[in-house]
Amino acid sequence: MKEKRTGFTTRMGAIAATVGSAVGLGNIWRFPYQAGENGGGAYILVYLICILLLGVPIIMSEFIIGRSTHKSMKGAIEELTPGSPFKLFAYVGVFGAVLICGYYSVVCGWVIEYLWTSADGTLLGHTPEQYSSIFTNFIGSPQRCVIWTILFMVLNFLVLSRGIKNGIERIANIMMPLLFVLLIVFCVNSLMLPGSSKGMEFLFNVDFGNLGWEGVVDAMGQAFMSLSLGVTCLITYSSYFNDDSKLMKDAVTISALDTLVAILSGIVIFPAVFSFGLEPGAGPKLIFEILPTIFQQMPGGTIWAVLFFVLLFFASITSTISLSEIPITFLIDEYKISRGKALIITAVLMTAIAVVSALSFSVLSDVKLLDRNIFDFLDYVGPNFFMLLGGLVTAIYVGWILNKDVVHDQLTNGGMHRSRFVQPYIIFCLRYIAPIAIILIFLYYVGVI
Ligand code: PHE
Repeated sequence: MKEKRTGFTTRMGAIAATVGSAVGLGNIWRFPYQAGENGGGAYILVYLICILLLGVPIIMSEFIIGRSTHKSMKGAIEELTPGSPFKLFAYVGVFGAVLICGYYSVVCGWVIEYLWTSADGTLLGHTPEQYSSIFTNFIGSPQRCVIWTILFMVLNFLVLSRGIKNGIERIANIMMPLLFVLLIVFCVNSLMLPGSSKGMEFLFNVDFGNLGWEGVVDAMGQAFMSLSLGVTCLITYSSYFNDDSKLMKDAVTISALDTLVAILSGIVIFPAVFSFGLEPGAGPKLIFEILPTIFQQMPGGTIWAVLFFVLLFFASITSTISLSEIPITFLIDEYKISRGKALIITAVLMTAIAVVSALSFSVLSDVKLLDRNIFDFLDYVGPNFFMLLGGLVTAIYVGWILNKDVVHDQLTNGGMHRSRFVQPYIIFCLRYIAPIAIILIFLYYVGVI
């Protein structure tokens, strides 16, 4: 008899929580700055292709593993294919999640700083150039960055200590629709700025001359980052799904909503970047320079700013919750320790890494790994190595190793509905496209191509 987990209570709740994991700083902070650094349109096209050919199939592979067993990765693989060494990759996922959460929560700390300064009225009222130096000064101040990062971590683990179901489900149900509405308001506002069409051109005009291999790697890493792939997050979440949810429909809904948020964020950011004559390739600080400029010229700017950063905070915390849940569920499942203990171990570890990366722009700015400071290093290896490796492993596992009856059973809910085209599509992408694409990227890393 399968051990029953108390899962998400409704299908909507499960989707909202998974969208909550997917939609976060990846969409609103990382996607625009990566698109900006890689020349816009061509990057976005490659990104969309990655979502279709890699994103949806790999989400499905994680869902199939998690939902068929109601276990996290290691236990799931043991149950599905006893003795298979693939279970060892669970450690890669857990390790990747800890590293990613370690730098991601630093940006969450920045969001709190901006929320705070918007609310006390000191953020707005500067020129676009001043916003750039305000940001640089802020990340260069060790105390503020560390305090906000720790505060964020405390809030994150407080929510987690209440158990994931009601907390996450409820927050996600309210916050995600609100975030959409607000993004649309900001899009309309950005599009009305003088000279906004240049920004739209930058976003949607596909010119491969601007996109090198590095840009393709970034687009692929970003697709994985944005959909929360490859670090066993979706295996963990789907282990809490009901047996009657339709996995393919859910995977498509989640990817579509996630992509929509990313594109909307681009439409908020780039028209404003060009309208104010700023630099699209400004890197991680991009949105922190542009957003205040946008809020400032809206009537009632302070209120918009506060509202936006509150929602960005919620979008981020629903993502860090899912990242933290990976090691927590893993420790509980593997070492049979209590949720409380698992939570404390995870919290200490993640907060330690977060504090170190919060100092990357000040005290530890001289520490370089692969030519990058600690923060940039984690932002690079998290998505571009750990997530891709995890994605490769799940793709090969479900594409080649796992019994196809399990796949069929999960896709059709035990034969309840058909999957005539879906299964061949998923399996083809998992067998050939994902492994070849990811291996090519790894060969590029080591300089073979
Ligand atoms: N998908 C999240 C985002 O776009 C980040 C994330 C990655 C969350 C991996 C969970 C697991 O912000």
